[in-house]
Amino acid sequence: MNRYLLALALTAFYSKLSVSPLSIEDRQSTSTGTGPYAPAAYTQDATLTGHTIFAPKTVPAGAKLPVLLWGEGGCSADSTESAPFLIQLASQGILVIASGNPKGSGSTTAALMTAGMDWIKSKAGTGTYANVDASRIIAAGWSCGGIEAYSQFWDSRVESIGIWSSGLLTNYTMASLLTKPMFYFLGGSTDIAYANGERDYKAIPAGTPKWKGNLPVGHGGTYKQTNGGKFGIAGGYWVDWLLRGNSSASAYFTGSGAQNDGWTVEFSDLDKISVTPI
Ligand SMILES: *[C@@H]1O[C@H](CO)[C@@H](O)[C@H](O)[C@H]1NC(C)=O
Ligand SMILES: *[C@@H]1O[C@H](CO)[C@@H](O)[C@H](O)[C@H]1NC(C)=O
Repeated sequence: MNRYLLALALTAFYSKLSVSPLSIEDRQSTSTGTGPYAPAAYTQDATLTGHTIFAPKTVPAGAKLPVLLWGEGGCSADSTESAPFLIQLASQGILVIASGNPKGSGSTTAALMTAGMDWIKSKAGTGTYANVDASRIIAAGWSCGGIEAYSQFWDSRVESIGIWSSGLLTNYTMASLLTKPMFYFLGGSTDIAYANGERDYKAIPAGTPKWKGNLPVGHGGTYKQTNGGKFGIAGGYWVDWLLRGNSSASAYFTGSGAQNDGWTVEFSDLDKISVTPI
C-alpha cells in the first residue's frame, strides 16, 4: 500500500473509531469537573456558528479564563463527543471552544477551528466574555481533530499544540519544523495513531519543549469516562500549567505524577516553558 492510500485508510479508520456506542448523556450527567472552577458546563453563542463553548458556570470576580481550541475525534461535528473530558478541562478555569454543535452531525475542518479563534479574539475582554484572556491560546484535538490542531501551528496567536491520540497522516516532514511546545497524549501501542504520534514526537527538532505520554487504553482514550478519566486528569494539569501558568502543575509531567497514573513518559526541554500566571 503506498503512503497516499495508507493515509486515506488511516483517515477512514480515525473517523470510524470516533463512533462509540456509549451514551454520552449518561456519562455527562455525572461530569461537572473536579477543578477549582467546577462546576463547568457547555453552552453556545448565536454569534459563533458551529461551535460549542465549555466553561465554568460561574467565574469569580477578577479571574480570567485562557482559551483552548478543540477538535473532536473523527473531525466529528458532535462537540459533545468528549464532553466529560472538556468539562474537566474547563473546570480548571479555561474557556474551551470546541468545533461542532452538541449532538451535531457531519464533519468539521481546520478552518472552522481557526474561525473559533478569530471569534474569541474579537469578543475577549468585553461583554459576556469580559473575563476571557485570549492572549494565550492552545490548539488541541483528538485523533482527526489533532490534525486540525496541527494546522493552527503556523498561526502566531497559538502558543502550543496538544496532540491527543493522534499524529500526522500526511506531510510528515512538518514535525521537523515544530518549534512551539508540543504535548502528545497517546493510547499506547494498540492506539491506531500510536506509530504516527511516536514518529512525530521523534521528528521534532532538538530544543523544542516536548512531552509524550502513553496510557495503554487504545485509540478511544478515556475522554468519555466521568470527568474524562485519566486523560482528564492529565489534561487538567496540562492546561493549569500551559494556559494558567501554574508552574507547580508541571511536576505532574516532569515528576512521578503521570507515571503513577500509568503513563509511560518521555520529555525534553520542558524547563524552557515559562508562562506568566494569569
Ligand atoms: C508540508 O508542511 C509544511 C509546513 O506546514 C508546508 O510549508 C508545506 O507546504 C507542506 N507541503 C505540502 C506538500 O503540503
Ligand atoms: C497549582 O498546582 C498545584 C499542583 O497541581 C495545585 O496543588 C495548586 O492548587 C494549583 N494552584 C492554583 C492556584 O490553582
